Amino acid sequence: MTEEWIPDDIPLDKPSPARIYDYFLGGYHNFAQDRAVAEQLLQILPELFLTGQVNRSFLRRAVTLLLDNGIDQFLDIGSGIPTMGNVHEVAQAVNPEARVVYVDIDPVAVAHCKSMLASNSRAVAIRGDVRDPEALLEHTEVRRMLDFERPVGLLMVALLHYVVDDEVAYSSVDRLREALAPGSYMVVAHSTIVESDKLDGRWQAGSEIFRRASETVERTLDQVQRFFGDWVLVEPGVVQTPLWRPEGPDDVLLDDPVRGHTLAGVAWKPGQSG
Ligand SMILES: C[S@@+](CC[C@H](N)C(=O)[O-])C[C@H]1O[C@@H](n2cnc3c(N)ncnc32)[C@H](O)[C@@H]1O
Repeated sequence: MTEEWIPDDIPLDKPSPARIYDYFLGGYHNFAQDRAVAEQLLQILPELFLTGQVNRSFLRRAVTLLLDNGIDQFLDIGSGIPTMGNVHEVAQAVNPEARVVYVDIDPVAVAHCKSMLASNSRAVAIRGDVRDPEALLEHTEVRRMLDFERPVGLLMVALLHYVVDDEVAYSSVDRLREALAPGSYMVVAHSTIVESDKLDGRWQAGSEIFRRASETVERTLDQVQRFFGDWVLVEPGVVQTPLWRPEGPDDVLLDDPVRGHTLAGVAWKPGQSG
């Protein structure tokens, strides 16, 4: 083993979405094959550098909204390789008692997350797959850290476009929503494209390159809204990610939000608790 964040059992010849994203965010937990894909993508779609930032700042704004509404336990699925402004940092800065479970399918993301959290007793990282919600919900660490009798903040930011099969995607999210108590919140950001992307061919070319790392699917506004089921969307609903409660005129891509290539929304579960 070369470095502690590189597990022994990962295929070193295949690029990974988590590590490509890490590269876009200026991280260094990526390998040559990840950087090669990332660089080719940036030549075609230079705004992808900003897309990562757009996502991360949405994540921070959404977690802050959840904290303002009393949420003190978070399940962050598809959490990625830790970078600036991780959920436990945002949450525990406001509420030191806040608990976070990070879940990712990528062993490098999980290994790095675990080493970062070694001295944090209120946040853990586990390897898991959103397509197997039952295993996640029954996971010992999830059960130990989160109290499902109380509201939970469920985060799936820039995750669900990796679940290309609609039936699997919707049934997995339905199951997760069902398991949560009333008053819980769900946060989603999801890849999308607009008509101009389809016409100029850049997105298509980028998707071909990205396929070396993973299949992805863009979903429309209706399709993304469907993930929220009967939960109540907070204002402004599902919108281009830069337009979700921006904080100031200098926010990234506020002047050209479709270049974020993602839709984002937050909703809460109605009903009586207990
Ligand atoms: C683009 S990153 C997003 C990271 C973080 N949520 C953010 O928005 O900054 C997507 C993450 O989803 C993970 N992922 C992809 N498919 C997954 C699956 N089926 N279950 C869990 N994680 C998955 C990838 O490994 C990657 O780390």
